[in-house]
Amino acid sequence: MNVSIIGTGYVGLTTGACLAFLGHKVTCIDADERKVKALQAGKIPFYEPHLPELVAGARHNLSFTTEYAQSIPTSQVIFIAVGTPPGQNGAPDLKYLEAAARGIGEYLSGDFVVVVNKSTVPIGSGNWVESIVRDAYEKRTSKKANGVFAVASNPEFLREGSAIFDSLYPDRVVVGSDNQRTAEVLYSLYRPLLEQTFIAPSYLPRPDRMGAVPLISADLASAELIKYAANAFLALKISYINEIGQLAEKVGADITQVAKGIGLDARIGTRFLQAGIGWGGSCFGKDTAALVATAGEYGLDAGIVKAAREMNRRQRERVVDKLLDELKILKGRTICLLGLAFKPDTDDLREAPALDIARKLIERGARVKAHDPVAMSRFLQEYPDLDVTLCASAEEAAQDCDAVVLVTEWQQYRELDWESIKNSMRGQVLLDGRNLLDRARLAKAGFRYLSLAG
Ligand code: UGA
Repeated sequence: MNVSIIGTGYVGLTTGACLAFLGHKVTCIDADERKVKALQAGKIPFYEPHLPELVAGARHNLSFTTEYAQSIPTSQVIFIAVGTPPGQNGAPDLKYLEAAARGIGEYLSGDFVVVVNKSTVPIGSGNWVESIVRDAYEKRTSKKANGVFAVASNPEFLREGSAIFDSLYPDRVVVGSDNQRTAEVLYSLYRPLLEQTFIAPSYLPRPDRMGAVPLISADLASAELIKYAANAFLALKISYINEIGQLAEKVGADITQVAKGIGLDARIGTRFLQAGIGWGGSCFGKDTAALVATAGEYGLDAGIVKAAREMNRRQRERVVDKLLDELKILKGRTICLLGLAFKPDTDDLREAPALDIARKLIERGARVKAHDPVAMSRFLQEYPDLDVTLCASAEEAAQDCDAVVLVTEWQQYRELDWESIKNSMRGQVLLDGRNLLDRARLAKAGFRYLSLAG
């Protein structure tokens, strides 16, 4: 099939590369000329494991352009995967979505095409996009748009850092549409993925016991709500374990054992029960805010989601509170942050806890040093005014510090020579914000080991 994807962020580029890998002819459209030029030269604009290999391998099926005219008129499926950054009052800013919908309407050829919303958009956006595409098409052609296109919602569930794995081996595919023909087109598009008939790439073998992927065929509003409800549920699972973690600390329990003990109940599940600093990233914060805002528009309170957000905010404050308790005075202290990215295996800094923590420490007069295996160059570009000294290694970052805070659970931090790090420090406090490290080993090395949960 001929496919256009508008937006080359995590979702758009991953989707485009996966569909090209599955054998479709894919054109990725982005308004950013520099980004498109880089992609044409084979450069991936962000860090995502295996994406460079996937793009290189699917090159013959993949092209990049800034011009809607180049592929919209000949596409059978058009994905909208533009950013929906946080706007005012918790509602996302939909200006890029609107521009994409208008652009599509201006270039549709008149043969039936499915316009798919992959961006996370407020409930009801499917209908809104429909009206914008329709208006633009009718204005240009002076013809009725009936039968020319249909809008579907196909929410994305990939996680940054494991985006390719999640896209090739999803738990489910959700398609929302109010029209049978649309669902059939998308079924054909995804058939190799749903039936798992493609040859798995050598670098990402198919998991054992992976069977056919369930397809949830729903109406538009349900598909849109599924996305928000899934992200909010995962966010509240994390906030729940963090709340239990606070209690674990008081009663002397081990939160890792508690999480395992409850998670092995199949009704609960072990995943997303990792206690610590809490969630960051571009999705959970924005989507929980949007869910609260939408509920509010309908006179509902969404109190559980609000509480999860509040717990997440407090976890970041607790990092500073714990350091204060230990060091008594932060003014003039030097604190090392290990990890800047909002999670491991990405260089994405959006809503990263490290930024918040660095700001709070600086406000209190501390000096902040930091290290991250991949996110430092992006940090320099995006946060030039945040006064953090970046260091080439974790060891250098910790040197002469009063305390180390492990903010992002990069695996390489587990393997550090903690004994020699301790000897190079001025103080002995280590706050393990992700419960990653071996408490006994660190205590033996002379650290005063702290965590956010017992
Ligand atoms: C999240 C969802 O997991 C995806 O399914 C969804 O597609 C995506 O949002 C989106 O809406 O685009 P992502 O934000 O990339 O994916 O990353 P996650 O792996 O979900 O992690 C989010 C945050 O939660 C990270 O800061 C992570 O450190 C934190 N987290 C995660 C925990 O604190 N504990 C856990 O047990 C799991």
